[in-house]
Formats: sequence, C-alpha cells, structure tokens
Amino acid sequence: MAEEVKKRVFSGVQPTGKVTLGNYLGAIRNWTPLQEAYDCLFCVVDLHSLTVAQVPAELRKNTLDLVALYIACGIDPSKSILFIQSHVSAHAELAWILDTVAYVGELNRMTQFKDKSRKHADNINMGLMNYPVLMASDILLYQAEYIPVGKDQVQHVELTRDIALRFNARYSDTFAIPECLLSKSGSSIKSLQDPTAKMSKSDVNDNAIISLTDDPDTIRRKLRRAVTDSDTDVNCVRMSADKPGVSNLLNIYTTCSGLSVAEAERQFEGKGYGVFKDAVADAVISVLQPIQSEQKRLLADKGYLEAVLKQGADKASRIAQKTLSKVYRKVGLIPKIN
Ligand code: TRP
Repeated sequence: MAEEVKKRVFSGVQPTGKVTLGNYLGAIRNWTPLQEAYDCLFCVVDLHSLTVAQVPAELRKNTLDLVALYIACGIDPSKSILFIQSHVSAHAELAWILDTVAYVGELNRMTQFKDKSRKHADNINMGLMNYPVLMASDILLYQAEYIPVGKDQVQHVELTRDIALRFNARYSDTFAIPECLLSKSGSSIKSLQDPTAKMSKSDVNDNAIISLTDDPDTIRRKLRRAVTDSDTDVNCVRMSADKPGVSNLLNIYTTCSGLSVAEAERQFEGKGYGVFKDAVADAVISVLQPIQSEQKRLLADKGYLEAVLKQGADKASRIAQKTLSKVYRKVGLIPKIN
C-alpha cells in the first residue's frame, strides 16, 4: 500500500516580549502531539515582530530564546521543520504578490490591526497593516491545511483563505485552503490582573502575566496576587461566568495538573483561595521547571541550535521555493534562467 501523504500543519509565534504561560498552554504545548500525525512546520516569525519597534539586540536574543523554547517544549527537529521566518526569503517575496490580491478595505477591518493602531498610535506603519498578508504568505507557501492558533488569530486565517480562494479563482488552482485548528484545552488563559482580557505578552503590567522564564518565587507571588472575584460566594473555587478570576485560575490549574474541572472543584471544596492559589502555583512550577532547565541547556549549545536552524531553513526553503516559482509563473513573471 502506498504510504499515506500526511497533511501539513504550520504555526508560528513572534519573538517579541516574554512568551507567557498563555502562549505555552494555548499554543506551543498543543503542537507537540501533532508531530506524529502531520507534516509540521513551526516557525519563529521574526519579520512579523518588526511591525512594532524592536531593540535589535533584544530581537536577536528573543529569537534564539524562542527557538530553544520550541525544542524544550517538545518540538522535535527530526520530526518537524523548525525555522526562522527571515531565513526563508520566499515569505517576504510571496507577501508582495499576495499584496496585489488583498484589498486595503479588508486589511483595514482586521481587529488586531485596529487594536495595535490604538496601542501604537505613534507608529502605525504599513507593516502593521500588512501583517496578515505576511501571515497568509507563511501559510500558503507550504500548502498548509491546518493552522493551530488561538482564537485571536482566527480572523487572520480566514483572511488567508479569502486571499487563497481569490488567487486560485484568478490564476487557477495554486494554493491549498487552510483551516484553523483550535485547541480545546488551555485555550484562552486570561490576564491575572484583568481576567476579562487575554494573558498577553505585550501587557505592560508584569503581574498580569506568567512568563515562561519566571522563577518559582515570582510565579508564586504573581498567583497569590491574582485577582479573584468579589462576589458573595467568597472562597468558593468554582468554574462560573460570574467568577472570571477564579475560573481563569481553575483553567490554569486543570490544564497544568491534568485534572478535570469537577475533580479540581472537589479538591478545593471548603478551602480558601490562599490554599487554592498555592496549589495553582505548585502545578505551574512543576510544568515550567523542566522546560526552563532544558531551554537553558540548549541555549548553551550554540552549535546544536545553529545546525537545527540551518537544516530547518534548507528544508523549508525547498518547499517554499516550489510554491513561489509556481506563483511567479502563473502571474506572468518570466522565470530566471539558472
Ligand atoms: N500572527 C500570529 C500570532 O501573533 C503569529 C503567526 C505569524 C502565525 N504567521 C503565522 C500563526 C502563520 C500561524 C500561522 O499569534
């Protein structure tokens, strides 16, 4: 029997700011099991980061930190293609072609663009508006069919589908049409200070996020300070829409410990929030500690990381170049003779 061709998965994280527990539980952690069933590409999207002001030396450090973190979290470079976006020039090249297919109106309507324009009112650059087209290019270059992302990226994946369908209709079938793979567990981890907002790595309040690099004392302190809810039902650990703070901590706790919500609620019956928060801290620390020490070990082994990145870029380039050549030909550009 012919070997079944695996479907392709693509995802990426920006090397900006501190990767949070939310990024880990909601995204990276859910990627590792996909490596068996799919042909996976995991990318550190450094070009996307440039849409907000970066300190060059910090961007370099954050990029390598994130590569090491991917591996420490279980991305296996012998199973998946792990690479840095800027190492494959086809991403920027395809983005230009897709720019001629995407409409200003649809980009102008993107929620993240509107949010970021508000947040960075002094730097509403073209890249910020163009961000989703570069993301479409990331995905379409590899003919990826499944895109594991958080809810906030669904709109961008839908735009990617629209662009792909439009291109296919105009120039004949070229791109696979991708769809989101929304994770069930660990999704939508909220801010510890405002549990109605997502835990975001760009949050200015450091107490609102748990960073993957926080040490145990810091994790415990932040969780002790996490807002709980001032309802009449105090010290009651229960998942409920009117208890967003406690519900968020329960979500973190169950995702880290593997217990069900019902089991966790039973465990803390009649116990105060103090006991509960310490248990959440223990669960988070026991998940993060092994990742942190593995990341540290990897960062000390520059030769290994370089070899992984070279191999990843080579493999990704080969696939990307195939799509890009096809696109160039279809839109009417004359192929270069090598
Ligand atoms: N925009 C994504 C985010 O901020 C990151 C990203 C860039 C991405 N390109 C991608 C995610 C392609 C999935 C597929 O989370």
